[in-house]
Amino acid sequence: MDADSADLVKRGEYLARAGDCIACHTADKSRPYAGGVPIGTPFGTLYTPNITPDPETGIGRWTDADFLRAMQQGIGKGGQHLYPAFPYAEYTRVTERDVLAIRAYLNTLTQIRYTPPRNELSFPFNQRWLMFFWNLFNFHEGRFVPDPKQSPQWNRGAYLVEGLAHCEECHTPRNVMQGLKSSDRFSGEVQAGWRAFNITPDKAGGIGNWSDDEIVRYLATGAVAGRANAAGPMAEVVADSTQYLTPDDLRSIAVYLRSVPPVAGGQTRPRDQWGRPADDVKGLRGSRITGVDGAQLFVANCASCHSWTGQGIGASAPLAYPSLIHNSVVGSPDASNLAMVILHGVNRQTKEADVMMPAFGDELTDDQIAAIANYVTNRFGDPKATVTVDDVAKLRRRQP
Ligand code: HEC
Ligand code: HEC
Ligand code: HEC
Repeated sequence: MDADSADLVKRGEYLARAGDCIACHTADKSRPYAGGVPIGTPFGTLYTPNITPDPETGIGRWTDADFLRAMQQGIGKGGQHLYPAFPYAEYTRVTERDVLAIRAYLNTLTQIRYTPPRNELSFPFNQRWLMFFWNLFNFHEGRFVPDPKQSPQWNRGAYLVEGLAHCEECHTPRNVMQGLKSSDRFSGEVQAGWRAFNITPDKAGGIGNWSDDEIVRYLATGAVAGRANAAGPMAEVVADSTQYLTPDDLRSIAVYLRSVPPVAGGQTRPRDQWGRPADDVKGLRGSRITGVDGAQLFVANCASCHSWTGQGIGASAPLAYPSLIHNSVVGSPDASNLAMVILHGVNRQTKEADVMMPAFGDELTDDQIAAIANYVTNRFGDPKATVTVDDVAKLRRRQP
């Protein structure tokens, strides 16, 4: 490979990371980019295609024009409409030059012969031509247009966030057609049991009280002491995508996010401004173990890492066992992420650390998990945030 094409491939790899292609197109780490990831939609399950250069089962026979058409128009090689679970609504904003760099990178991957399972979509959603109507209302084809009134840094952030990084796919609420609601951008949405929080610059509802440095650190490492940790789908975003972005690009993202319209969303106090140390352990000494007492269960299952006061262990050190006081998951008015964290644990691999909290789904029953979650929000978070045993049972069936 000559120096020019080596550069192109390297740029393509960086952009593929910014677009987090691997998250949706890798079901099995031993088959990178060969697809097969089940994507749950309200209409059934889709399986992502193989995008390795394998000529039979991948995209080896695709021309650059085919690839551009898929990324920018959401049209497959046979001319069929692709489902918007593939974020072409955002990728359409990416320049031709960048799309072709990604293609050049994908061309260098190992060819993997693998055919993902067939989609399980019910009629009429298995009718691809219907996407024509979805596109009519929810898709605006076109490349990103820089705003000359804004700084180059802002424009770089907007290009990444609105395009490859597709932050809105999770963080923007959806309309009845499952399109993104342009009036409430970045104000938060629930997907597969996880709430992707409000990340508008609103001081109470969003992340308006975070500094730019904190946003950068969160995206680079997944942890900001006294504010938030990244679990679930956001842990994957950090591990597969944002940790690889340059500090300049992360700062541009922070600058852009700060400029979007703030949305309070009914929240009056920031998620990361709740809680005080607990001293329940004193009252528990010598008391009978009941099995569903939140305080007892917390001390037995969580205190070894988070301390019975909830203040964490070594929590001021980066990536240590975090304090549950001033933590956005614990202080959220919606306790579902907390229940998800207890059920499925935390797993985030970054250049800095392999962060692991064990999953308690197999150890604890739904009523025990509800009791712990309600104890945790009551002591260390927003006491109005509660989960029922039923909620936990539903969340248990979700993917981690
Ligand atoms: C949020 C999940 C998601 C992400 C992220 C994602 N894809 Fe996909 N992609 C899909 C799904 C789902 C499909 C299948 C859509 C369909 O069947 O209509 C798809 C289809 C495709 C196709 C069409 C393949 C074919 O055989 O028809 C290409 C090409 C593609 N993706 C490339 C990429 C690239 C390049 C990236 C990163 C820049 C990327 N995808 C990121 C979910 C994703
Ligand atoms: C696949 C879905 C998904 C995508 C894509 C995504 N996020 Fe998130 N994000 C989440 C979820 C879920 C959480 C909550 C994490 C938790 O509970 O620990 C979150 C949390 C956050 C937080 C912390 C908010 C808080 O108060 O704790 C920030 C900041 C954030 N995301 C920024 C971004 C940015 C910037 C992007 C685009 C580069 C992005 N996210 C893309 C799902 C996503
Ligand atoms: C073996 C140690 C360990 C145990 C036991 C443990 N945790 Fe954790 N916990 C962690 C680690 C590690 C993290 C992730 C830190 C990071 O993201 O950098 C974490 C994160 C969290 C978070 C923050 C998640 C987020 O996305 O912001 C909550 C809430 C939490 N734990 C609650 C609990 C509860 C409740 C229990 C008991 C059922 C528990 N933990 C037991 C180690 C532990």
